[in-house]
Amino acid sequence: MISKKMVAVLNKQVNAELYAAYLYLSMSADAENKGLKGTANWFFAQAQEETTHAQRIYNYIQRVGEKVVLDAIAKPPAVFKSMKAMFEAALKHEQKVTGMIRDIANQAVAEKDHATGIEMQWFVAEQVEEEENVNDILSRIDLAGNAPGALFMIDKELAARVFTPPAAAAE
Ligand code: FEO
Repeated sequence: MISKKMVAVLNKQVNAELYAAYLYLSMSADAENKGLKGTANWFFAQAQEETTHAQRIYNYIQRVGEKVVLDAIAKPPAVFKSMKAMFEAALKHEQKVTGMIRDIANQAVAEKDHATGIEMQWFVAEQVEEEENVNDILSRIDLAGNAPGALFMIDKELAARVFTPPAAAAE
């Protein structure tokens, strides 16, 4: 048995994950426009990954016999100052999502909703990885400073990312 309050926050999380996908897609478009092809690739893959996160929660809501209710997705910024500004905004968003996941996990404990608690454990671990990845890229951007050659190398590395759907999302 899952509470209505829990269904509401899970639906809200579907929206937050879809907004993340939208935000990263916007970053990808802006990076492409700026000639940062690797960064565009990285954010495009990240947008795909966020879509799988939304799908995973979408599936969970349905598996527990509840209804998915989709809300409007907010408009993301269209232009970012730099590659660094994009990753800083991405980190800020990931930190917000981590907080939302933690709140749902805490609510699951309070409501003794073990099924949702187990579902959230996957996301808790995923958020550690998401923040780690963005932090790692930001550290490299900081090391590069304003050297165009070094930033070009980072962009080139980001071109190597290939999106592979997480196995768990297909459950
Ligand atoms: Fe699905 Fe990056 O949070």
